Amino acid sequence: MYNPNQIPWHQDESLVTYFEKTGVSRRKFLKFCTEMSVMLGVTSLVTPRIVNALAALRRPSVVWLSLQECTGCVESVLRSAEPTIGDLLLDIISLDFQENLMAAAGFAAEKALQDAMTLNKGNYILIVTGSIPTKESGVYTMIGGRTAEVILREAAAGAAHVIAVGACAHWGNVQAARPNPTGAVGVRDIITDKPVVNIAGCPPIADVVTATVVHMLTFGKVPDLDREGRPKFAYGAKIHDQCERRGHYDAGQFIERWDDEAARQGYCLYHMGCKGPETFSPCPIVKWNSATSWPIGAGHGCIGCTEPHFWDTMTPFYTRLPNAVGIPVERTADILGGVLTVGALAGIAAHATFTGISRTRTRRELPILEESRRPPPDGPPL
Ligand code: SF4
Ligand code: SF4
Ligand code: F3S
Repeated sequence: MYNPNQIPWHQDESLVTYFEKTGVSRRKFLKFCTEMSVMLGVTSLVTPRIVNALAALRRPSVVWLSLQECTGCVESVLRSAEPTIGDLLLDIISLDFQENLMAAAGFAAEKALQDAMTLNKGNYILIVTGSIPTKESGVYTMIGGRTAEVILREAAAGAAHVIAVGACAHWGNVQAARPNPTGAVGVRDIITDKPVVNIAGCPPIADVVTATVVHMLTFGKVPDLDREGRPKFAYGAKIHDQCERRGHYDAGQFIERWDDEAARQGYCLYHMGCKGPETFSPCPIVKWNSATSWPIGAGHGCIGCTEPHFWDTMTPFYTRLPNAVGIPVERTADILGGVLTVGALAGIAAHATFTGISRTRTRRELPILEESRRPPPDGPPL
């Protein structure tokens, strides 16, 4: 459970000084920096640069707007079973304005927002969760008598960087699903004069948000993005190419009912509607809840929550979508089966070599290739 730190970080203190005050050891700090460089996919030669940049850091200001949303993203980013230094970093940078966490309410909260934007004009990081309703002049989300769009435009104007956290903030998510009654749009539809980083997912993985912020604080710029605005270090590979069940897919071993023997054996969920072949996300590697599990690991197919407008493009969730992407998924699943295994594994290995996330895989000992090399367990006739 996340606990906001009560020890203030003064403006003139470096992060190292602050950590000394709060009892965070140098070893823990270095471990965090190493983990961040692994997550960002940079070589170990860059780790000292991250260490030096963060150590010298003066208290960075973050303004976090919660617009038309469910607060699930805030829960995901800030809640953890075991508080880590990553939580601590987010705690620190989130303090200037975060409505769900701050004690202030009403006029005091509005003043805190204005103060944060004025004092740190041009320097703060703006994090946004939630969509922006545009129909009926935006009346569907009003805070302090102003629409979400007005608040967002004002906050983005003075921000150094803008991060849209979650599917609501980037594509409008379920609110924007047909027929989109509130005219919900994402941040990038409103803010067009600066890059908007999209930490995709419903909700997204907290470690990806942390790594993105660390990148900005270390290098002073946003990480490389794909055409959807997602950081390539995290969203550069398909779920399907990192999935622990991929060996079963290649062997033509599929679950056909939620309670069949194949389900008990952990076979592939493609016939149950899994959208892993069309979805780019680090979920199989970084995982959730202190890296204990993830949707497919828990026995449910991926519903494609990191992809644009997934409520419209990935539904029905429990029906497979044939050939939705460039590769003939149906054909490989139903006809070619096991004969593809060797080639597919070679492809996975080659791809993994070039992704930063693959290094996280090694560290977290997710044995994708080892798993796939094992003979498939006995199951029912398929
Ligand atoms: Fe909630 Fe999902 Fe929107 Fe995040 S992206 S605020 S979890 S609906
Ligand atoms: Fe994994 Fe889904 Fe691909 Fe099967 S279809 S291997 S469950 S991502
Ligand atoms: Fe979302 Fe699929 Fe990951 S549903 S949480 S991208 S496994």
